Amino acid sequence: MKLLAGKTALITGAARGIGKAIALKFAAEGANIAFTDLVIDENGKATEAEITALGVKAKGYASNAADFAQTEDVVKLVKEEFGSVDILVNNAGITKDGLMLRMSEAQWDAVIAVNLKSAFNFIHACIPVMMRQRGGSIINMASVVGVHGNAGQANYAASKAGLIALAKSVGQEMGPKGIRANAIAPGFIDTAMTQQLSDKVREEWVSKIPLRRGGTVDDIANCAVFLASDMSSYISGQVIQVDGGMNM
Ligand SMILES: NC(=O)c1ccc[n+]([C@@H]2O[C@H](COP(=O)([O-])OP(=O)(O)OC[C@H]3O[C@@H](n4cnc5c(N)ncnc54)[C@H](O)[C@@H]3O)[C@@H](O)[C@H]2O)c1
Repeated sequence: MKLLAGKTALITGAARGIGKAIALKFAAEGANIAFTDLVIDENGKATEAEITALGVKAKGYASNAADFAQTEDVVKLVKEEFGSVDILVNNAGITKDGLMLRMSEAQWDAVIAVNLKSAFNFIHACIPVMMRQRGGSIINMASVVGVHGNAGQANYAASKAGLIALAKSVGQEMGPKGIRANAIAPGFIDTAMTQQLSDKVREEWVSKIPLRRGGTVDDIANCAVFLASDMSSYISGQVIQVDGGMNM
């Protein structure tokens, strides 16, 4: 029996990277997949086709996760077209790094809106659906820097710490309705986001990781499958660091 058979998962920012890997693993475990991204271009369509090839239903929706009204519309459509939302993964995220002294208001606002407000938008729209179903699993994609902070990423780290507190708060409010909420805190994962870094910076990161490698998108997706499935049915409000032991 597949771990997510018959469930519907909604994953934000999943046309590529970690979100796409989660979508593919969930689909391999039998879940139907609704995903969002800013645009659904050839990349997004290719992702949709790759998921469908695994024998489940898949559809990509173009929407800005930071926009409250757009989110309400997307969740309504997903509910109509898929019938339920059993798993929500708040994955969409951006960085706009800079030292605090030089960080602009625009850099701060953009990162908080896309990384944190988006999760409020989606949780707010999905919990009435999950409450009616008397169950659901919410996963917020945080980061190790949301637990430990990081110089040059005050906006990003604050947004990720917010995602952790949001998961814990929603977990407390919604537990009696059978809804669990957890966060994943990836460490250094090889994706488009980290490929922008210089070789020197990458080597510095890897030297601090006990397992001596960057993580893969599948390392994160495996953890997401666990948190989405009934394998974790007694786990809520937790942050799982998937970081090769970088922060013990
Ligand atoms: N890569 C890492 O090392 C790492 C580490 C820790 C946490 N994370 C987190 O994991 C998540 C995924 O990261 P990734 O490395 O796959 O990044 P990525 O840039 O490859 O993918 C992010 C996706 O989100 C989409 N997106 C951006 N803004 C959006 C918006 N407003 N609405 C909808 N979609 C939007 C992008 O178009 C993209 O498809 C992010 O939340 C990121 O902060 C990544």
